[in-house]
Amino acid sequence: MDKITIAIDGFSSTGKSTVAKQLAKHLGYVYVDSGAMYRAVTYFAMEQGFIDKNHFDVSGLISKLNEVKISLKYNDELGYSEMFLNGDNVEKKIRTLEVSENVSLVAAVPEIRAQLVKHQKNMGAEKGVVMDGRDIGTVVFPNAELKLFMTASPETRAIRRYNELKQRGDDVTYEAVLKNIQDRDFIDSNRKDSPLVKASDAIEIDNSHMSKEQQFEIILNLVNKTLKSS
Ligand code: CDP
Repeated sequence: MDKITIAIDGFSSTGKSTVAKQLAKHLGYVYVDSGAMYRAVTYFAMEQGFIDKNHFDVSGLISKLNEVKISLKYNDELGYSEMFLNGDNVEKKIRTLEVSENVSLVAAVPEIRAQLVKHQKNMGAEKGVVMDGRDIGTVVFPNAELKLFMTASPETRAIRRYNELKQRGDDVTYEAVLKNIQDRDFIDSNRKDSPLVKASDAIEIDNSHMSKEQQFEIILNLVNKTLKSS
């Protein structure tokens, strides 16, 4: 059976990466978390002092983009790839609330998007890829055979992300997580370059009231239908 491309877009903390990992494992496909790439560049920008709560030196960051080497390395034990930045494993460091508070500003910069989108297109050139993000079905793989658009209420998403961060031992409040999700929804949906929008041919899935298992079953059915017809 021919391999297909699966593009999963949607708002923050809608469970995109959970279902993308399940699908990639089930199908033997490659999973690419495009958000991790924007998070890695943001982590670099914070480390280098280009961005903090009060300022963002966009041109300074752009001038150093050639020093940002990111790569995903598959971890057998975890069953998914981890993000490396200039040779260091930054998988945990890029998931903090501090990085989340800066990432949408960094991701709105066209020069940064152009570089990462090029990388993403290369990673999916052979098909057999599940990629999640904000512009995968609209910009990165407009010809993807299956496009999903995930939604859930902001409160549901904030609880999920709050629990995830607490489980890692991060010191965060529910209110701060909810605010970050609302801020990112707004910036991601309103930026000029590749805003978060549902592709006209994407299938919308609201998983506010679905378990991970129910969600996987519904989406796997869609994948099987697509595989049969492609
Ligand atoms: O995990 P979560 O849904 O919270 O976010 P993520 O997928 O890790 O993405 C982090 C941020 O990167 C988003 O809020 C966007 O600002 C940006 N992003 C983007 O602009 N385009 C993508 N394809 C993926 C992420």
